[in-house]
Amino acid sequence: NSIERLNFTSWRQTSSSNVAVKKETTRRKDEAEPVDERKSFYMLQEERQEQAERSVLISCSHKITEKRFLNYLSRHGDINTFFFYESFGVYAVVEFSKKESVASLQDGASIPSIEHEATVPFKSRLLSLKLNNPVDQSGSQPSVQCLPQSPVPISELIQKLSKADSIDQQLYTLTDTYELTEESIRLRFLVCSLLKDIAAAYFPECTVRPFGSTVNQFGKLGCDLDMFLDLDAISGRNLKKTAGAFSLEYQMKRVSSERAATQSILSVIGKCIEQFGPGCVGVQKILNARCPLVRFAHQPSGFQCDLTANNRIALKSSELLYLYGSLDRRVRALVFSVRCWARVHGITSSIPGAWLTNFSLTVMVLFFLQKRNSPVIPTLDRLKELAGPMDKVTIEGNDCTFVSNLSKINVPENTETLEHLLQEFFEFYANFAFGRLSINIRKGKEQNKPDASPLHIQNPFEPSLNVSKNVNQTQLERFVELAKESSWILAQGESRSPSRTGDQAWGLAALLLPSVSQPGKSRKRRKREPASERIKSLLESLKTNKLHGKT
Ligand code: CTP
Ligand code: MG
Repeated sequence: NSIERLNFTSWRQTSSSNVAVKKETTRRKDEAEPVDERKSFYMLQEERQEQAERSVLISCSHKITEKRFLNYLSRHGDINTFFFYESFGVYAVVEFSKKESVASLQDGASIPSIEHEATVPFKSRLLSLKLNNPVDQSGSQPSVQCLPQSPVPISELIQKLSKADSIDQQLYTLTDTYELTEESIRLRFLVCSLLKDIAAAYFPECTVRPFGSTVNQFGKLGCDLDMFLDLDAISGRNLKKTAGAFSLEYQMKRVSSERAATQSILSVIGKCIEQFGPGCVGVQKILNARCPLVRFAHQPSGFQCDLTANNRIALKSSELLYLYGSLDRRVRALVFSVRCWARVHGITSSIPGAWLTNFSLTVMVLFFLQKRNSPVIPTLDRLKELAGPMDKVTIEGNDCTFVSNLSKINVPENTETLEHLLQEFFEFYANFAFGRLSINIRKGKEQNKPDASPLHIQNPFEPSLNVSKNVNQTQLERFVELAKESSWILAQGESRSPSRTGDQAWGLAALLLPSVSQPGKSRKRRKREPASERIKSLLESLKTNKLHGKT
């Protein structure tokens, strides 16, 4: 009986699993839905989180067939959806209709006994499905269709863009090629849910929520997974005062500040992930950062993860970005393209440093879109005026209120082409008075800079913070210089019309070629960076290539 030859084992953390993360290739997602049919951000998050609770992650044999796989799993209940992907082996995400199916699967699973290694008996939703008579798997292709989890290489993207008919179409193609797939988003929510199981050992009613590019609609396949441990439901902060005689002793353990509390929570959760987190490797506790975090690689999903705690403001800013991305199709296309342009030229990096971050860059694009004669998107103050009573929210003393119902926001009248907007974006920042002015998307207007940092972008919800405090003068100058060059290239007639044969990079594709940023080829020779900057960039590119498995 073929079914009996299959058996599940719970996945355990073993000491030998310290391997780098591998990423896969990409797939297209469907067109964006019309504004009114979109669910509110909050509803969407709740729905995905609930789906993740009913899901499991299964490490499979290369030789598994879909039929056998389903045959075995459906014994535990109805399956809503499933898919396979590769990350050092074949994995499957399975979403059951009911949560009981997960328990049934876990109850029937065995605990692996590994010679010379002991395992920690933690019952996770990460399982392995092994064939009893394994065949030689070296070099074999998986028997099931595996969905891509990382984007196409830049050279392939440039080729694809060069075949487009217009620059507008190029920007949309880039977005379609790079955006997170439905499956990648599901896997991200599942990883959060798996981590919640671990954190629940300390805080049974906690939630682990994704934020940042996983949920803001600007995420690129393969991007990091930002998440935070949400203890709001049990923090007592939202509890009404009762007249009862008892107070909970566990909430009375005092520390000197909110920050110290976050640090001690992350310290124990970090330890827990390190010691008992199935598939979690390379755990680093970065508790002295402005926003303390635990960083690690989740090997079965291939995600680089950043876990913070009580980071509700960051979730609000992700919601704001989601909202802006939903208002007009051009917003996402422009943000994706500018982010890609910045990444290929080393203006942004996956490593923290003195360079622009994707978040800063996105806010800069939004600000530019608010500044058009006929604005493409409204200001944050306008979104606040449109808010209903349910939208009112104050987090850590900051008013984070803005409208959540997309249909209350008027569709913009601006009809500029993406080609024009892209060119104008470069022009706008090539000439921006960074020395004097601060970027402010709440007002949609420049403000006088409150301090001397080279680039000042006011945090939309924490006005005293500068989103780009980390950026130094050299990095800002590189951005401005590149914006000038790109604006100039786009203004040239020949780079604006499609190549007849489709084999020459033109338009957006031309802007992504390395030559744009090479000093020798630029209109004006750029100032050489200090040696330390060049060494940093070199190290960065080596590290990036290694991460992506390139040579
Ligand atoms: N954030 C912030 N202030 C910063 C940096 C980040 O408030 N100076 C918040 C934002 O809400 C941002 C989130 O933290 O969306 C995650 O930051 P980051 O990972 O840098 O940005 P992403 O949008 O996730 O982009 P990436 O794809 O580069 O991860
Ligand atoms: Mg991120």
